[in-house]
Amino acid sequence: MVTQSSHNQWYPVSLISELKSDKPLARTVLGEDIVVWRSGHKICAWKDLCIHRGVRLSLGTVCDNRIRCAYHGWEYNSEGRCELIPAHPNLKIPTKAKASAVYSTHEYAGLIWVNLSEEPKTFPKLDQFSDSNYRVVPGGPYEIDAAAPRVVENFLDLSHVPILHDGSIGDSNFAEMSDYTIEDRPEGFFATDIRYFQPDPDGSGSSGDVWYDFGILAPFTVYFVKHIGCRQGAEKFVLMLAVRPESVDKSWAYMVPAYNYAADLTEQQINDFHSYIFGQDRPVVESQRPELLPMDLSEELHLRSDQMTTRYRRYLKDLGMDFGVTENGYQKIVN
Ligand code: FES
Ligand SMILES: [Fe+2]
Repeated sequence: MVTQSSHNQWYPVSLISELKSDKPLARTVLGEDIVVWRSGHKICAWKDLCIHRGVRLSLGTVCDNRIRCAYHGWEYNSEGRCELIPAHPNLKIPTKAKASAVYSTHEYAGLIWVNLSEEPKTFPKLDQFSDSNYRVVPGGPYEIDAAAPRVVENFLDLSHVPILHDGSIGDSNFAEMSDYTIEDRPEGFFATDIRYFQPDPDGSGSSGDVWYDFGILAPFTVYFVKHIGCRQGAEKFVLMLAVRPESVDKSWAYMVPAYNYAADLTEQQINDFHSYIFGQDRPVVESQRPELLPMDLSEELHLRSDQMTTRYRRYLKDLGMDFGVTENGYQKIVN
């Protein structure tokens, strides 16, 4: 079921670079099929359905700032109105000949975002993505057969890093977690003073301590800021995870890193690295049972180092989230 808590959120549907001017994209958000296409500088996202005979508009083509249905060639302008019916070129176009639902879109951090609500909430932003000192390198999406809250919780799970990612972003010889702080924020919560030992925190080949802050922008969009060298180190690395929930058991994860150092790293190297790390997380998250994230904290076991993930569950519960979560223990997912 989709309620306001998941419906009125911004979800990434594509890298901006992925959307070509002549070809629409087919996407699914919260079970809703969407066509995404470009009309000049405007990006359109509509219900993926031609009003004539219910064909997917994403099978069509884009030409002269219109999207053309593949079946009988009806052409729609960027406002969603049909402007040409090839079988009846002189017919006055019926007013009902229009896109059946038009959604809000936004371009940010190299991604195209869509909100399914008629009154979309304000788009959440991170300072670093508009700071010219940072290089933003959007990547993904990574497909995963898991509920979005499970995917996000994995990103917020701290104590798995030295174990599952031993040798890359963690070291299993330094698995003990020190305490950290979580404070409430209007957007949810913010965690600070998270300390790790990493084999190679900045790509220089030298091991050392790093400090992380974690924050939340939306139920399925979270980020961390990594401080290298010391607690307020000048070198910072930001990573935003934005998850598109296709259905309760399939999600697409976009990773948007931003660096104020490491200018020599190529985009390919950066994307390969995140793909490698996500590849370690994927089988673990896909294996989790129940598939839906339990809202009842008496389910599963929570330790001090799990403080942030239990806070995330409480945040979702307070929001009234009922997509990808379960109140009823180990129920199977039902599509
Ligand atoms: S179904 Fe689209 S034009 Fe007929
Ligand atoms: Fe991980």
